[in-house]
Amino acid sequence: MQFFVDTADVAAIRELAELGMADGVTTNPSLILKSGRDILEVTREICGIVEGPVSAEVVATEAAAMIAEGRKLAAIAPNIAVKLPLTWDGLKACRVLTSEGHMVNVTLCFSANQALLAAKAGATFISPFIGRLDDINLDGVDLIADIRTIYDNYGFKTRILAASIRTVNHVAEVAKIGADVMTAPPEVIRKLAQHPLTDAGLATFLKDWARTGQKIL
Ligand code: E4P
Repeated sequence: MQFFVDTADVAAIRELAELGMADGVTTNPSLILKSGRDILEVTREICGIVEGPVSAEVVATEAAAMIAEGRKLAAIAPNIAVKLPLTWDGLKACRVLTSEGHMVNVTLCFSANQALLAAKAGATFISPFIGRLDDINLDGVDLIADIRTIYDNYGFKTRILAASIRTVNHVAEVAKIGADVMTAPPEVIRKLAQHPLTDAGLATFLKDWARTGQKIL
């Protein structure tokens, strides 16, 4: 499963990329706001850090304007994936932009039927939002499983990008199901390394090592 980093924080992206933990990046208007940076400038910088897809989201809501914004964002770098909301206009824009050879990430997906439409419109990625479904007492992980089944049933090539990942358990769950990609904030990716038994085991080893009186270097 590929790891995308869900942030526009350049320092965090750089750190994870150096570790091989950033196969791509996803941004959205809220993340651009949080970064305090200009969208074109920060997106260009991110595209220079990671080789994989960098999602940049349009803010127009009507197809023709979405297409125009998408073309402008795609011109930033060859690894841009234009992010479009899963609306009827978004699907129209998806069809046009993918036919021009651009990568498209269809976002704000909350149902299997929406994911089916995105695949038929030729989306490169579909982004089902797990955490936001969990927020309203629905099961976001179940949605990933349903989309995996549907896409496999018909051989759709659209890649499942599990988004709105809030916990380390979400990561393991979507990996078991076979999501192609997951995108998570840097802090969730860092937490994947943590386990209390690792910490306790290391503390014991270091204590015993000190009692040997030895040194390796
Ligand atoms: C995905 O592309 C979105 O940017 C993101 O995963 C949304 O996550 P949130 O629901 O935690 O804001």
